[in-house]
Amino acid sequence: MKQKIGVVGLGRGFMAMGQSLRHHPDVALAAAADPSPEARDRFSADFDLPTYESIEELCVQSDCNIVYIASPHQFHRSHVLTAAASDKHILLEKPMALTLADCDAIIEAVDEVGVAMVVGHTHAFDPPVQAMRKMISDGTYGRLRMINLWTYTDFLYRPRRPEELDTSAGGGILFNQLPHQMDVVRHIGGGLLKSVHARLGAWDDTRPTEGASVVMFEFQDGCFGAMTYSGYAHFLTSELNGGIGEGGLQVDDTGCGSARRRLQKLNGPDAESLLKRESGYAGKGLPDPSATALHPTFGTLIATCDKADIRHLPEGVGIYADHGKTVQSVSFGRGSENRSSVVDELVDAIRGVAPPVHDGRWAKATLEACLAVAKSNETGVPVSLEHQVALSKDKH
Ligand SMILES: NC(=O)c1ccc[n+]([C@@H]2O[C@H](COP(=O)([O-])OP(=O)(O)OC[C@H]3O[C@@H](n4cnc5c(N)ncnc54)[C@H](O)[C@@H]3O)[C@@H](O)[C@H]2O)c1
Repeated sequence: MKQKIGVVGLGRGFMAMGQSLRHHPDVALAAAADPSPEARDRFSADFDLPTYESIEELCVQSDCNIVYIASPHQFHRSHVLTAAASDKHILLEKPMALTLADCDAIIEAVDEVGVAMVVGHTHAFDPPVQAMRKMISDGTYGRLRMINLWTYTDFLYRPRRPEELDTSAGGGILFNQLPHQMDVVRHIGGGLLKSVHARLGAWDDTRPTEGASVVMFEFQDGCFGAMTYSGYAHFLTSELNGGIGEGGLQVDDTGCGSARRRLQKLNGPDAESLLKRESGYAGKGLPDPSATALHPTFGTLIATCDKADIRHLPEGVGIYADHGKTVQSVSFGRGSENRSSVVDELVDAIRGVAPPVHDGRWAKATLEACLAVAKSNETGVPVSLEHQVALSKDKH
């Protein structure tokens, strides 16, 4: 029997996840909640399903057994508490929350009721990342020594709500892009980071939040590496992946700096919020199904083992070994959409097939590492981590 999903928050997150929910063989959309009448109207027209103004109404009135929480970060804690109190299983968008105390409250609420929770999507769910980890944990190419991840995007110049440009309200790359990078690196390395040493850049007074970072990290087993992020919308790392970007599709490359030029034509924050709404789900609906054999890429990711460098590619995993280069193709999750593996993990947890890998404790450890990046940037010294958890063995 299909699991029934109620969506909370019909914005960009739902746009990115919607087709993976819609086309998964084990789940069906059942309802949605959003305070915006335009977003609710669009959902009713697209799916002919009930809509509500709030998560409270959705939890009481809808027959869904899963709630997908894709509301803005500041609501994640209260929305999980509401969903758990109604015995709903939970798919929670990243970042899990804005503080470790909120993560603890979420973990406690979910544990108390005994529902399943997966925190995602992050790019750690990308099938090539999972396949790379399997090669590493099997020891196929010897011991993992180093991980490097480079991601250059137009993140800071996509249309934003005001709080998305305010770090104290969860804006900038710290809460929005580093959770992807940190989750990927922790997944590849097995989870147990020891410390991070970082620098953050906030270089545009008109977008007053962090847009760039370099993080050097070390795992407890001695593996080390670095992740670099720039959201300043000039070079894009999709260029290093045959033009394939975060959605597994050819990036619409209308030229270097196009995201900046689009914003320059706007007249202030209201016009920007309006553009965000118009280009979001309420204005545009869901994008077409991915219909591609290619995987999302989130920059250039290379794991160095004793006997090979292995690299995330849109086609799967590139293996650069003594005998030369080979490419191992990697299949999608059960729903054949680019985020199907997120749904697989939650459904398997609900059905008792396997406990979730990316659960509350995992996501809290990822947030801890992101917050440590900010602290290291302030203090100028490495920050040790205390809440790290290992990747659960059965899903390597
Ligand atoms: N994993 C990813 O790749 C990805 C991509 C985009 C967004 N996200 C996550 O999704 C979440 C939402 O971000 P977004 O970019 O979709 O924002 P958005 O502004 O595009 O959409 C947010 C939606 O939530 C609705 N909303 C506001 N308050 C609400 C409430 N109290 N209850 C229910 N709905 C409410 C808004 O009306 C809007 O429709 C964030 O946590 C973000 O990190 C994740």
